[in-house]
Parts: sequence; structure tokens; C-alpha cells
Amino acid sequence: MESSLALDFLGELRRTHSCGALRLADAGKSVVLMGWVHRRRDLGGVIFIHLRDREGVTQCVFHAEGDSVLHQKAESLRPEYVIAIRGKVEPRTADTVNANIITGEVEVVAEEILILNESKTPPFPMEDHVDVSEEVRLKYRFVDLRRPRMQRNVILRSKVSLAVRNSLAQQGFLEIETPFMTRSTPEGARDFLVPCRLQPGTFYALPQSPQIFKQLLMVSGYDRYFQIVRCFRDEDLRADRQPEFTQIDLEMSFPQQEQIFEVIEPLVHNVCREAGFAVSGPIPRLTYDEVIRSYGVDKPDLRMPPFLDVADLFPGSGLTADGMPLVAIHIPNVGTLSRKDRDDVKPFGQERGLRVYDDVKRLERDFAAPIATVRERMGVKEGDLLFLCGVGEPPKSPRPVQSVFEACGAFRTFLGQRFNDRHQLLSPTDFRFLWVVDFPMFEWDEEDKRWVAAHHPFTSVKDEHIEKLTTDPAGCRAKSYDLVLNGVELGSGSIRIHRRDVQSKVFAALGRSDDEARRRFGFLLDALEYGAPPHGGIALGLDRLVMLLAGESSIRDVIPFPKTSKGTDLMCEAPSEIGDRQLREVGIALRKS
Ligand code: AMO
Repeated sequence: MESSLALDFLGELRRTHSCGALRLADAGKSVVLMGWVHRRRDLGGVIFIHLRDREGVTQCVFHAEGDSVLHQKAESLRPEYVIAIRGKVEPRTADTVNANIITGEVEVVAEEILILNESKTPPFPMEDHVDVSEEVRLKYRFVDLRRPRMQRNVILRSKVSLAVRNSLAQQGFLEIETPFMTRSTPEGARDFLVPCRLQPGTFYALPQSPQIFKQLLMVSGYDRYFQIVRCFRDEDLRADRQPEFTQIDLEMSFPQQEQIFEVIEPLVHNVCREAGFAVSGPIPRLTYDEVIRSYGVDKPDLRMPPFLDVADLFPGSGLTADGMPLVAIHIPNVGTLSRKDRDDVKPFGQERGLRVYDDVKRLERDFAAPIATVRERMGVKEGDLLFLCGVGEPPKSPRPVQSVFEACGAFRTFLGQRFNDRHQLLSPTDFRFLWVVDFPMFEWDEEDKRWVAAHHPFTSVKDEHIEKLTTDPAGCRAKSYDLVLNGVELGSGSIRIHRRDVQSKVFAALGRSDDEARRRFGFLLDALEYGAPPHGGIALGLDRLVMLLAGESSIRDVIPFPKTSKGTDLMCEAPSEIGDRQLREVGIALRKS
């Protein structure tokens, strides 16, 4: 860009205050502020500049009478020019105080201005809410990150990381780094691979998590490890998933599951306090079986009440298939639903195989007493939404009852979100944490026709289920737990297997031969034979935590430089093709398909 202006040098000038620092008590001081021109208002005889940096905005004033050169320079300013202003702090008159900005009781009367750099007209204004596509925001991310909302999010993220470090350091944890260039890790997604120039034809895998290394650190005696660490997973992306994301990862030796909760609860409370929210008291716990029966999902949003299987109240009614649940879904304070509301939402349940009874008043004609009992059991009041859901026939699935609960869970979540503007239950500042415990050890993989680890293959089975590993995999429960917040899986962890013989049994149950396990994780199996202590841990998703604390609905808004849902960085245009020479160096020939 050809500069049309004579730009100034910064020279020896030093900034004295940030743009969010000045208060009434500073009146009379000579100050130097530096930042970006947020807004310029030209009233002829006087020009107001709102000067912005990450701490806030300060109003600076240029009077025409007095120094006309200074005034002319102020006239040439445009949004996002970078300037330095030397001037005097003056109190504003009562009628000009601006309560919307923290420096609103004062202004700086300019005595000198340096124009340090100019700016093209930005593609969107530096406001909290902008009417542009996310693509444009991501392409100009360096500008997007200047918006106050993004700055709040990035600053919050930094505060959260610091609170995590402080909380864990206070609890005796050591911060230890683990490698990024490693081999395949066991979290079940696809790996990102890095070709190795020195050994053509071989590849490093970027870690999906530091799982194996943190276990090795326990074997090496570094009890209480933690790391705020980048993880890499090549999987389909969503609002709460990125290909590279950050975990608060920790591991302890000799822990009871309870002790891991005792570390995490003060940590999340401190973090919430740091973000300005008071959260206290123990985090409630529910087993996996309980959450499926009451919410139909393993990460329930506790801001809405649970649903209830009321099939026992309607024997022989035909409302649901024999032996299948009849689920009453209750969402408080929705008010009266129009015919259109009902017609809009019903298909969501029907598409999931449910028979949806949305007109409970009509059902009451035939089932007055049972409906009255449902209302009483669930505490349904006038103006609450109550639907019953059954099925025409049992779903074709290995666990039909669970499948009905899951369909109802999805429907309950959908209804809660759909009518949130009316019932206001899903307040973003109501933080409802939950521990979900006793997960199944295995899940059936329909595609591969085999059992796979529900968490990862190093998770301990409950002591009393060890004998069932091969005889009844479906019935085995694991020593694993999830931390859930407002319907989002925030973290996941487990007590690990520390004995080689038990690890072999689990691999066998997973249909993995010892040879295959040895090929992938041989070094961990070796380590288990050199005095591995009982150990366990957890990893929380930092991005998801900050997203919820910031009241955002996508983790992209709390990651400075995120990828799109196609895994692209629109600003750097990564991933990109690479030249023949680089390919040759790493011994790769691309196949034309
Ligand atoms: P898990 O795979 O459940 O467990 O991951 C732990 C937490 O990391 C976050 N997370 C993600 N966040 C953003 N984008 C993603 N693609 C993504 N994937 C996961 C979630 C999740 O709860 N090694 C084990 C932990 C352990 O057992 O200690 C692990 O990685 O918030």
C-alpha cells in the first residue's frame, strides 16, 4: 500500500497508560496513550477520537482553536489507524459522562499526536456483533481478533490457563512436556502424519493426546503430572471439535477415582471464579445407566429436568410397544403451544422412530388418572410442556430399550433448545456440572463387528467385572468417568490398567492379538512390567471450557486461529500443496486418482 500520509516515527515516546486505565482520580495528569482509532467524530470545531487497545477505549479530544496543525492531523485519521497521543486527562462534565466505557468519566485533551501507521478500511467494524460471514472473519482473523468480543475471549482463555496452572501447582502437580512427533496414540480418531526426511517412507504421528506418555511418566515416578497441551485428531469437525485443540491433561499415581474428583472440583471452581461466576458445592454424580434412563444421553444438560419412563402407569394401553419405555418429557415454562409449534417439532421425534403424543389434554380423556400421576411425579405446572413418547415396535438394535431412551434424549434436547427463548431455562451463566461414572467398558462396532474400548484400551475394568471380560463384554463396567457441563462433554478420564496380565486380557476382549498390541503399544506394555504403580487421570477440553465460560456456542470463537469445518485455515490457506522438491526430499510420490 502506497502511503498517502507522512507517517511519524515513534522515537523516544513511551506509553504511560493503557486505553482502559484512566479514571477520575487521574484528572490533571499528563499521559501518553497508544492504540487504534476506534471511532472518529468530527463536530467541526472539535474532533473526538475513541482510542482503543485491548484494555479498553479512551476518548481523546482535539480542539480546532489553539493548535490548528494538531486539529488537521486529527482530521486525517481513519478507523484502525495506529496512533500515539500525548495529552492531559480532564474530567468530563456530568452530561457527557459515558457510562458504557470504563474510562467514561474522563477524556484526554490532546497536545501531540503521532500517526504511526495507517490502515485500509477494515472488512467489518470492530464491534461485538458484526454482520459478516464466518469465512470473512477467518480470512481476516488478524482484524477479527481486534473486536472487543474476541479480545475478551482470548484474555479469558489466558486467565483460565493461569488459574488451571495455579490450582494444579498448589495441589502438587508438575508441568511436564511430552513429544508432538511420536507414533500412533490410542484415542480412536485418525492420525495426522508427518513424513520423516531422514528415514524416507516413515512417518511420525501427531499425538491425539499424551495418554501413553503420561502413563509412562507414572511408571517413571513423576506422580501428579499435568500439561496444557495441544492434541491433534483427524476427525469430522463440529462446533465443539477442532483438528487441533487443547487439553488440560493430568495423571496421578495411587489414586482412588474420588481423589481425581477432589483435584478437579476446586480447579473448575477456581476457573469459574476467575471468569466471574460463583460456583461452589460438590459436583453431583450419576452413573451411566442412570443418565441414559433419565436423560437418554451420556452428557445431559441438567438445566432442564430429567424425563421419566411412565410405562408402568399405562399397562396394556398400546401407547408404546410391549416392554418398551413410554417416556414423559417435561420442559417447564414454555407456555401455550400453537398447532404450528406442535407440527414443527413432532417430526424430529418421529424421524427418530418415536410415536409422539403431543396432545396430552386429548390423552386425558382416556387416561385421566395416569396422566394426573405423571403430572404429579414430574411436578408439571400450568404452562409447562409435557409430551409422551413411545414406539410402535421395538427398535432393531442390540439394546432396544436404550435406543428408545436415546431417541427421547435427542428429542428432549431439541425441544429445550427450540423453546429456549420462551422458557429461558438454558441460561449461559447457569453452570451445571455433573460427573457421569461407571461407563460401559466396551462398545459394539457394527462396521467392524467387534467390541471396541468405550474410553481407550488402557482403562481398568471394575474389579468385580474382571472375570466377565471375555464372557460378557456388554456387561462390563469401567473405572471411567466424564465431567459434563450444560450438555457438553468437558472431560474424560479413567483409572488405568497397571498390570500386564490384565492389559493382555483387555486386548484379547478387544479382539487384538498380543502381537498386534505389541506392535502398536509395545513400549507401554514393556513399561507395565517394570513396576508400574496403580494410576489414573483425566483430560478436560480447554477450548470447550472457555467456550462455555465465554457464553459462545462454537470453540472457534475461543481459539485465536481455528480451522473451518473442512479443516482449512482460511487466513494462511493451509493445508496447501507442496512442491516436487519437498516431496522428493521426504520420499513421497503423489498418486493421481
Ligand atoms: P478424550 O478423547 O475423551 O480423552 O478427550 C478429553 C477431552 O478433550 C476434549 N476433546 C476435544 N476438544 C475439541 N476438539 C476435539 N476434536 C476434541 N476431542 C476431545 C473434550 C474431551 O472430553 N487421553 C484421554 C483422557 C484420559 O483418559 O485421561 C482423552 O484424550 O473436552
